[in-house]
Amino acid sequence: MQMPVSIRPASPTDAERIVAVHFAAVHQTAAESYPPEILDVWSAAPGEARFNRLRQWIAGVDEVFIVAEVEGEIVGFGSIAPAANQIRAVYVDPAAARRGVGAAILSRLEVIAAEHGVKCILVNASLNAEGFYRNNGYEVEGSGAFRLNAAVEMACVKMRKNLKLRVAGGGTVGARGDAPPKGGG
Ligand SMILES: CC(C)(COP(=O)(O)OP(=O)(O)OC[C@H]1O[C@@H](n2cnc3c(N)ncnc32)[C@H](O)[C@@H]1OP(=O)(O)O)[C@@H](O)C(=O)NCCC(=O)NCCS
Repeated sequence: MQMPVSIRPASPTDAERIVAVHFAAVHQTAAESYPPEILDVWSAAPGEARFNRLRQWIAGVDEVFIVAEVEGEIVGFGSIAPAANQIRAVYVDPAAARRGVGAAILSRLEVIAAEHGVKCILVNASLNAEGFYRNNGYEVEGSGAFRLNAAVEMACVKMRKNLKLRVAGGGTVGARGDAPPKGGG
């Protein structure tokens, strides 16, 4: 059953809840697709160091973060790096999975991308998320690997979608050239 989701820009004060969603999504939803050694690096145990890093990221300008709320509680989040034409994150609390929250986040990220002039959006999809992106109009370009740190990388699927969104007032949005994928979705 779909949930009444509201999406808003993330604030640095959301960092603790965002990290909790990230940790649960990685260690539960993605657990069937990756070994524990990868999951532990992909999402380390929540703590002050992670919260602070994320607060700085959210406050920065390179990546736009949004959160999805149901009844005032954050149940998912996403981010996009418009200059890289790339979705960097879509994560949903397993307790709210398969009820349209991820699709709502992705749809808003695509609107933000279009507002920034992105024409073709890229994502390094985790293996468990390929079906999600396919269902939302993304096509597979090939398999890839996303580097988590100097020693560990995770397999991913390189995917892309041509945006055909229209801006208010008519006319298609401007185009930005493609850039090579840099981050993980
Ligand atoms: C991927 C993720 C964000 C999807 O969030 P969600 O809220 O459960 O997704 P939705 O309910 O919006 O799904 C929309 C549609 O996508 C498809 N879909 C979603 N998850 C899927 C999966 N695991 N396998 C296949 N299709 C999937 C389905 O068609 C679904 O519609 P349906 O449930 O009516 O069949 C969530 O599973 C997650 O957080 N995964 C772990 C973190 C992760 O890997 N994020 C992506 C990094 S690239």
